[in-house]
Amino acid sequence: MKVVVIGAGGLIGSKLVSKLREHGHEVIAPSRGPGGVDTITGEGLPEAFVEASVVVDVSNSPSFEAAAALEFFETSTRNQLAAEQQAGVGHHVALSVVGTQRLAESGYMRAQTAQERLIQDSPIPYSIVHATQFFEFVESIADAATDGDTVRLSHVLIQPIAADDVAAALGKVAVGAPVNGILEVAGPAQFRLDELIRRGLSAHGDPRTVLVDPHTRYFGAELGERTLLPGDGATIGATTFEAWLSASLMAPPHAT
Ligand SMILES: NC(=O)c1ccc[n+]([C@@H]2O[C@H](COP(=O)([O-])OP(=O)(O)OC[C@H]3O[C@@H](n4cnc5c(N)ncnc54)[C@H](OP(=O)(O)O)[C@@H]3O)[C@@H](O)[C@H]2O)c1
Repeated sequence: MKVVVIGAGGLIGSKLVSKLREHGHEVIAPSRGPGGVDTITGEGLPEAFVEASVVVDVSNSPSFEAAAALEFFETSTRNQLAAEQQAGVGHHVALSVVGTQRLAESGYMRAQTAQERLIQDSPIPYSIVHATQFFEFVESIADAATDGDTVRLSHVLIQPIAADDVAAALGKVAVGAPVNGILEVAGPAQFRLDELIRRGLSAHGDPRTVLVDPHTRYFGAELGERTLLPGDGATIGATTFEAWLSASLMAPPHAT
């Protein structure tokens, strides 16, 4: 089965490519540079999709700003779906975030919802995978909520997952039949958002103080107690935050 991974150089993309190849699948992993694929200009898409059975889109907007993210996800998805139709691709798989529809106050999440709508409205069979926040995203969550030396976060529930487990779940979806719907993946344990970030920062010797602020916004959205949690029936990754943290502390920078 020939699988094309769009965003193959990214956090999830690079892990997904390795896993699919380990399982003997033919994987096309175009980079974004010259001779590769650019989903915004459309360059390289027809060539990459020749005889492909599946396209997995794990690209991401370079900007989280609302208008830029919307422009990215709409243009990128339209270009991919049009080229897939031309090439006769039989399965489009995309990665998005658990709770996107509940996070509509966030421009970035609205952009991901727009991406999902385009996929759902296209004639190409599809599977959309919603993942909870990656363990690898802890520092970015902290950075987005930092003012001086203080990180302000709400005390809501979160069920984060290792990027490795997301890639493993995506790989299985990619080589399976299209579900024409949304599947969820999440980590094995729930935390309080402020506690998770406090633990992650402290393990890395980050001196910032994490404070609870119930009305602080998460990438533009006010969170309810369960906004970030998956529903029943989510696939649960095996890696615990503690095991991931130990491994990440031992690994060289950027190896996780
Ligand atoms: N972070 C989280 O906790 C979380 C949780 C759930 C779901 N997700 C979703 O997971 C997806 C993947 O996230 P990630 O962290 O793996 O992303 P990432 O590491 O930022 O990688 C994004 C990839 O997209 C590529 N890309 C950007 N613009 C492109 C273009 N015009 N044409 C082709 N490729 C392009 C990048 O190429 P370059 O390497 O050349 O820049 C990069 O390889 C995103 O949709 C994200 O919203 C994230």
